[in-house]
Formats: sequence, C-alpha cells, structure tokens
Amino acid sequence: MCTRYLFLIIIYLTFFSAYKGVADPYTIYEKEDFSPASDDPWKGHPIKTLSPAFKKQLYEANKTDYLNEDEFDESINMNTQMSAEKHKIKKMGNFIFRTTLRIGSGEEGSVYLAQHIPSGVYAAIKMTTFYGEAENDPEYLALKNLERLYGCYVENTLMSLCMPLVTGRSVVPYQSPYASQERIKTLLGVTLTEEKEITYDNWDLNVHLMQTYLDEFEYCSCKGACSDGAPQNILLTEDSQIVFVDQKACRPTPPEARKMHESLCFFHYFLGLTPFRKKEGKRFELREDIKFPPPVREFNKIVVNAMNALEPIYTLAQIKETFSKFKIDMESYFLGLSHSQIQLGSDSTPSISSSSCSSSS
Ligand SMILES: Nc1ncnc2c1ncn2[C@@H]1O[C@H](COP(=O)(O)OP(=O)(O)O)[C@@H](O)[C@H]1O
Ligand SMILES: [Mg+2]
Repeated sequence: MCTRYLFLIIIYLTFFSAYKGVADPYTIYEKEDFSPASDDPWKGHPIKTLSPAFKKQLYEANKTDYLNEDEFDESINMNTQMSAEKHKIKKMGNFIFRTTLRIGSGEEGSVYLAQHIPSGVYAAIKMTTFYGEAENDPEYLALKNLERLYGCYVENTLMSLCMPLVTGRSVVPYQSPYASQERIKTLLGVTLTEEKEITYDNWDLNVHLMQTYLDEFEYCSCKGACSDGAPQNILLTEDSQIVFVDQKACRPTPPEARKMHESLCFFHYFLGLTPFRKKEGKRFELREDIKFPPPVREFNKIVVNAMNALEPIYTLAQIKETFSKFKIDMESYFLGLSHSQIQLGSDSTPSISSSSCSSSS
C-alpha cells in the first residue's frame, strides 16, 4: 500500500516538474491598443516598418550571428518561416523575438527586437531577473504608469517587459570626449571651427532637442517614473525626440519639486561640446580654449555653478525659465544685437511657478 502511494507521488512529481519546465511564460499584462497616452510628449506610435538606418544599426550590432545582410534582412520579419534552429525564435504571449537581434544591453538585462504576431507591430523586449512580485517590480510599474508597457511575462525568475521600440541611439556618442565632430555637425548642426569657435548652423534643432528633453522629463516626473540620468538610458530617436528608457517607479512629484541640475548639464550634449572639464577636487571649470557665443557662455556659467554647488538648487520650473531666457538671448545674438543687451547669467534666481502635473498622476 505504502509503496503504491510512494509510486504515485513519484509519478506526480515527475510530471509536475516536467510540466513546470516546459510551461509557457505567464502573462502578467498585455496591452490591446498600442497607441501612446494622449499626454505622452514622445507619441511613440506603433512601428510596422523599420527604417534602413535602424536596420543597419541593428545589423552592425548582430552581424556575427548572420551569414550576410540578406539573411539578416529576412530575419527582421519574424512572422516568416526562417530557420528556427539558427535564429531561435522565442515567444512571449503574442510577441515573438530572436536572441540574435539584440538592440542593447546593460547591467540588468538584454533588450531584443520583438514583433507582435497578430499586428506585425515591432517592439523592444527586455529580459531581466525579478525579485518578489512581478506586479510590484519598479520597472514594470514605471512603464505601466507611462502607458508604455506593451506586455509583461514571467518565466521562473525571468521577467520580459515589452515596450515601444525607440528607433535611434543613446546620446553617448554625442558626448565629449567620444563625440565625432562630423556626427555632431550632421545631427546637431554644431561646428567647432579651426579657430576653436563654436558656430550653430541649425540652432532651431538644438532648441527643439532641449525642449523635447524637458517635455520628456516633465511627463516622466508627473507619472512617477524616474531615470538614473545615465546617458545610456537617454535615447535620441531618428526623428529627433528624446526618450528615457530603463526607468523605475518613484513617487510622482510635481517637476518643480524635482532637483535636476544634472539635466541642466545635459543641455550641453546638444550644444555639441562639453564646455567644462573636471578639475582635481571634483570641481568643474569652464573651458577657456573654446569660444562660445556669449549667451552660451553665460548659460555655461550657470551650469558650472550648479555642478559645483554642494546642494543642487535647480528645479524644472527654474530650468524652463533659464531656458526661455537663453532662447531669447540667442535670438538677439543671432540678430546681431549688442552684447550689452544680453542679460543671461544675472545673479537672480528664477522664481518657481506652479506645478504642471495634472492631479490624476
Ligand atoms: N525601448 C527601447 N527601444 C530601443 N532601445 C532600447 C529600449 N530599451 C532599451 N534599449 C537599449 O538597450 C539598452 C539596455 O537597456 P536598459 O533598459 O538600459 O538595460 P539595463 O537596465 O540593463 O541598463 C539601453 O541602453 C538602450 O540602448
Ligand atoms: Mg540602462
């Protein structure tokens, strides 16, 4: 009798563990409509066709896994019957992806190109380890708050987060000292002349980029999503939008209450060159060897002062005001008005205006 029970227990355990091993990933969440939130400044609409530039970037990152570009091109459409052995397809809910199409990776996980089977919509899928309840995972919550979560699946200790695909690249290559002058010129319209003078061929683009950065920062702050500010997590899309990835849930705060002097410094990625350098003792100083237009120079002073301050003092409201003033001063500069009219850099601290987060956030 006892042996029979033991036998049944063994059979049960064998089947149960075998079943666990092949179980489909468990779907925590899947979005039905991929359109962005109405207040999302990025407006990352679902993508069904990849641009040649993005495909090239993806190919460069993954070419060791492909015989040639044709084979790679074929693998991009995951709804086809392409060799499943060589370019293994994985399935998460209604999404499929190949581990041979990696978009990026970081300390927490890898991100792959994915495709929603019924619609053909492309996405990015991040595989990461999670602890505790998946529904309480800070990254899951941040994406959900932002309405940028397409799907969430768990399998053992692995969590897969499916999100809108950001076609572009991180801002790392635009940072000095890695920045290529050619790239900066093409993308940002900023030139460093042989006389070490900074000129702007496309100032409007610079302004636009700073604005999209501020809009993204404000949206994420209001929705309770926090970024660590690392340039790897700040993406510049092909149509010149700034999008933050790798965010974690935090308490939604009015952006005025968020300290953001790092973000103020970030403006300088768009100005093409880091205008300050770190001195011993961790203080920053302005570069004297480069001639910036006077309003930029004044703006740089504010940044350096903020960076050297023990307690960062800038809030989004202050930065918006500083930025508005800076834009006006640059317009005057371009109009060739006398420098004496340029007021930027005065000692007065901009006043704080009221919160722009809606109460629902
Ligand atoms: N939604 C996305 N679209 C396009 N690329 C992405 C997306 N999310 C992440 N990436 C790329 O993958 C990299 C790693 O993702 P990330 O979430 O930062 O992982 P980690 O938490 O390990 O740092 C990013 O630096 C970025 O280049
Ligand atoms: Mg990261």
